[in-house]
Amino acid sequence: MTAEIIDGKAFATRIRGQVTQHVDRLKTGHGVTPGLAVVLVGEDPASQVYVRSKNKQTVEVGMNSYEHRLDRDTEESTLLALIDQLNADPAVHGILVQMPLPDHMDSASVINAIDPAKDVDGFHISNVGLLATGQKSMVPCTPLGCLMMLRDTLGNLSGLDAVVLGRSNIVGKPMAQLLLGESCTVTIAHSRTRDLAEVVKRADIVVAAVGRPEMVPGDWIKPGATVIDVGINRMERDGKTRLIGDVDFQSVQEVAGAVTPVPGGVGPMTIACLLANTVTACCRANGLPEPEGLTA
Ligand code: GUN
Repeated sequence: MTAEIIDGKAFATRIRGQVTQHVDRLKTGHGVTPGLAVVLVGEDPASQVYVRSKNKQTVEVGMNSYEHRLDRDTEESTLLALIDQLNADPAVHGILVQMPLPDHMDSASVINAIDPAKDVDGFHISNVGLLATGQKSMVPCTPLGCLMMLRDTLGNLSGLDAVVLGRSNIVGKPMAQLLLGESCTVTIAHSRTRDLAEVVKRADIVVAAVGRPEMVPGDWIKPGATVIDVGINRMERDGKTRLIGDVDFQSVQEVAGAVTPVPGGVGPMTIACLLANTVTACCRANGLPEPEGLTA
């Protein structure tokens, strides 16, 4: 069997098209322009690339983009004061503080200072709790993108066996909650899991988010399973820096029913979902119906 390749780039373009339509409707019908504020502390090169891309795409879909850059040695209190200001600003519907933060800052305090209604990353403790209890929340962008691709590939996910590899707060845990919400039977596996190959082999859905290049080989995959590769590992290969997933694409492709490539799979969906979350936050802030198909 040769797996269907799930085209995340094309999917993300489709999502951005829908977001653009909703932004137009908000502007012309309601006189509101969704606004996204992105805060970057320090000069981490990967973070700078992400932030530039976020700002560009925010403007492309017709939203307002507010970029705040702070020095690496900024006091945490200064960042918290900026967050207060953005929380109070009615033109800002979404706030994202780029991670990782410098070591002298406490990420949890910073994240929990963001108004949960503007927390388009879905990292605030209130949003984590709302998701875990099946209530309306802001959903973290990468797992939301994965869920959209799974629904598009498989339709109804009810009753399917899902294995999430990785237990991070950003991907693994919220992904597992979302799959539970779809009535999957969910296993969260991680570096201490025994008989990992056997656990993964039971799964109809595998979401790999461990940050270990090509860790999942094809002989761990149940024939016909859908495999979502969240890994973005930067590796030197043939003298060039390449992005390598957590899944061994060549061997998995021969067994799986569908698989996401790296690059061009989950990656482009993350920013598309950030834009979708900003539109959702804007609609909620203005008491307007939420866009269909852009939330969990
Ligand atoms: N750093 C890497 N990915 C992310 C993300 O999705 N959100 C934030 N805030 N920081 C990140």
